[in-house]
Amino acid sequence: MDAIKKALNIGGGSGAPAAEPSAERLQELKDKYAKAGQEQVFTFYDALPTEQKAQLFEQLSGFDPARINEITDKALNPPKAEGGETVLEPLPESATASILDSQKSDIDAWYDAGLGLIGQNKVGVVLMAGGQGTRLGSSAPKGCFDIGLPSRKSLFQIQAERIRKVQELAGLKSGRKVVVPWYVMTSGPTRAPTEQYFAENKYFGLDRDNVVIFEQGVLPCVSNEGKILLESKGRVAVAPDGNGGIYQALVVSGVLDDMKRRGVEHIHAYCVDNCLVKVADPVFIGFAAAKKVDIATKVVRKRNATESVGLILQKNGRPDVVEYSEIDRATAEAQDPKQAGVLKFRAANIVNHYYSFGFLESIPRWAHRLPHHVARKKIPYADTSSASGETVKPDKPNGIKLEQFVFDVFPMLEPERFACMEVRREDEFSPLKNAAGTGEDDPDTSRRDIMAQGKRWVEAAGAQVTSEDPDAGIEVSPLISYGGEGLDKFQGKPIVAPAVLELE
Ligand code: UTP
Repeated sequence: MDAIKKALNIGGGSGAPAAEPSAERLQELKDKYAKAGQEQVFTFYDALPTEQKAQLFEQLSGFDPARINEITDKALNPPKAEGGETVLEPLPESATASILDSQKSDIDAWYDAGLGLIGQNKVGVVLMAGGQGTRLGSSAPKGCFDIGLPSRKSLFQIQAERIRKVQELAGLKSGRKVVVPWYVMTSGPTRAPTEQYFAENKYFGLDRDNVVIFEQGVLPCVSNEGKILLESKGRVAVAPDGNGGIYQALVVSGVLDDMKRRGVEHIHAYCVDNCLVKVADPVFIGFAAAKKVDIATKVVRKRNATESVGLILQKNGRPDVVEYSEIDRATAEAQDPKQAGVLKFRAANIVNHYYSFGFLESIPRWAHRLPHHVARKKIPYADTSSASGETVKPDKPNGIKLEQFVFDVFPMLEPERFACMEVRREDEFSPLKNAAGTGEDDPDTSRRDIMAQGKRWVEAAGAQVTSEDPDAGIEVSPLISYGGEGLDKFQGKPIVAPAVLELE
């Protein structure tokens, strides 16, 4: 495992030794950076206090500057696609299913199979919560965000309660104590506040041994010319390595070892910001397990030809994600020859995946091949050309963050190792991306979508919902219902919306 970690690890360590390094070790490191043309990171080193020297030395020792150069170069100059036309096709029908038009008997069979696997303690969940949530603009990790539900539950709490409920449902079926371990991926900026939040809230009723908080890697931010930036005189500017950093982190942090020890065979991975996410969804697990695939993904139907979403499809015969900006109008507007009025390319990516454990075990064989992408950002930096080295806050993008995308692994799969399930948007996808008042993917839309779903559930169970406000909804605690089940006791009961249904 050590060799694997070494091969993969390009992220900086976070330990902070008190003593500065020997002159010999320092020279060795300086030579390494000079050889890579990155000697500017030592500009202020000699004038730093001892502790900061030690910290900068430690941070720089954690990176391989030659590899950073290589990654930057490839990200800025991605290899040109081999000649010939790019052929885009929807995924083959054999690899897809849709909750919208599947037989109820099929959905029930997947649910039973998935719940059975959960009941055998073979299912684990990975949460991607390492993003910095810049658009939302909250200083706390996104998962701590209160979207204004009557219960004031945060995204983390909602997800934790869904895990508790699915454990309970699976336990009733299997007759044993069920654990769905929750692996929470954080990053440098989100780890400590996430750990603190979980501890303060007693892991929301989950057993703390079954909540594993781990950290993804970081990469240095570089200037537009590819030079590693300092954020201050004694610190390199770094950023999380994107949600694709999940693969390296699963290995390096020991999460894969933990899954193996527990006998986890099926993994659900999802994003923290989807307030409707069905964590460890039995239907999805059952579907993917029945298909015997390495990866499955959930999609929602693209609203219309111009919606700005990435599409899951087959590109030159391989599963892939193509961004909306990468397809032409004719492709975007093409109709499904089998369904009038339905887009041919409609599988909108919601970053909600199934992995077989066997596939995740193969990460060390391919993780180094995942490309990095360029995100041009405003990155505060210490100006190495001025003696004072004051940190400058740029007002336009001055540099690059290097990110991997979680779905870049798809094209590495043979098409038969990949499957896709279309789900209802109103039931499964409402991301929290933007600050309140934006009107799209913001706290208000998150709250509205949860409350509308709860109202649909209790009405389907036969409750009589009344309200002065036709848009008022009902918050149903995940501890009462995971996906609309178990609400029979409300049949015929009057409920005045807005309301919250909590466990007594
Ligand atoms: P986004 O790309 O939407 O980023 O992440 P974000 O951090 O939430 O928000 P912005 O772009 O800064 O406004 C999609 C998902 O991927 C996770 C996020 O936590 C979110 O669940 N993610 C993103 C990571 O886990 N690590 C990363 O490095 C980046």
